[in-house]
Amino acid sequence: MSFVGKVVLITGASSGIGATTAVYFSQLGALLSLHGRNIQNLQKVVEQCKEPKPYIVTGEMTNEIDVKNILDFTIQKYGKLDVLINNAGILESGTIQNTSLEQYNRIFDVNVKSIYYLTMLAVPYLIKTKGNIVNVSSVAGTRAFPGVLSYCMSKSAIDQFTRCVALELADKQVRVNAVNPGVIITNLHRNSGMNEEKLKAFFDHSKTTHALGRPGSSDEVAKTIVFLASDDASFITGQTLAVDGGRSVMCPR
Ligand SMILES: NC(=O)c1ccc[n+]([C@@H]2O[C@H](COP(=O)([O-])OP(=O)(O)OC[C@H]3O[C@@H](n4cnc5c(N)ncnc54)[C@H](OP(=O)(O)O)[C@@H]3O)[C@@H](O)[C@H]2O)c1
Repeated sequence: MSFVGKVVLITGASSGIGATTAVYFSQLGALLSLHGRNIQNLQKVVEQCKEPKPYIVTGEMTNEIDVKNILDFTIQKYGKLDVLINNAGILESGTIQNTSLEQYNRIFDVNVKSIYYLTMLAVPYLIKTKGNIVNVSSVAGTRAFPGVLSYCMSKSAIDQFTRCVALELADKQVRVNAVNPGVIITNLHRNSGMNEEKLKAFFDHSKTTHALGRPGSSDEVAKTIVFLASDDASFITGQTLAVDGGRSVMCPR
C-alpha cells in the first residue's frame, strides 16, 4: 500500500483511533490534514508522523463554520482531497428513561450532522480525484445495547449513510465504507464519564463480550481504515466492516 501524493483528511486525529490512523497513513507517505480540538495532542501526533509533517486544522464539530473551515483550509493547503476519514465522535450513556433532548442533540450533532455536512462539502473534491471515504461507526451501529441509546442510533445512522452515499457516488468511482469497531482502548470511555474503577471493570468485562477474549487496540482499527482507503480495496464500497473481535456475531447462550 502507498499513499504517496494522496491527501488524507482525518477528523478527531488528536486521540485514539484517529491519532493512530494518522501515524499509519504517514508511514505510507500520505499528505495529511489532521483535525482535532486539543492542539497539544495534535502536535504530539504530528511529532510521531514522518516528513512531510501533517497540516493541523482545529475546530468544533458542532459548529458549522468550523466544519466548513476544516475542508476549506485543507483544500487551501493541498489543492485537492483524496481520502476523507470521518472519525471524530463522542459516547454518552443514557436510556429512554433518563436521556434528554439535549443529550440526543449533542450526540447527533457530533456523530451524525457534522459527518453529513463535512462529507457534503468534500464530495465535489473526492469526485475530482476518484477518492474515497471511510466512516468510523461502531458495533453499536449494527447491534443493540441498552444504556447507550442515542449513541447506538447515531452509529446506525452512519451505517445507513455509508450505504446510501456509496450508491450515490458509485458512478463517479468514489468508494464509501465504514469500520465498526468493538470496544477499543482509547479515551472515548473515560471522556464519556467513566471513572478509573468503572473503566477497568468495563475493559475486563470485554474479555467475555468479545469472542477473541479481549478489547481491541486503536492500531487494529487503524490498519483496517487504511486498507479500506487504499487501492487494495478498489472493489469494496458500501460496506460496514466489523473490527470487533467477533462481538457482533455473538449470541448469548
Ligand atoms: N473506543 C471505542 O471503543 C470505539 C468503539 C467503536 C467506535 N468508536 C468510534 O471511534 C471514533 C474515535 O473514537 P476514539 O475511541 O478514538 O475516542 P477518543 O480517543 O475520545 O477520540 C475522539 C476524537 O474525536 C474528537 N472530538 C470529539 N468530540 C468532538 C467535537 N465536538 N468537535 C471536534 N472534535 C471532537 C476528539 O478531539 P479532542 O480530543 O481534540 O477534543 C478526539 O480527537 C468515534 O467516532 C467513536 O464513536 C470507538
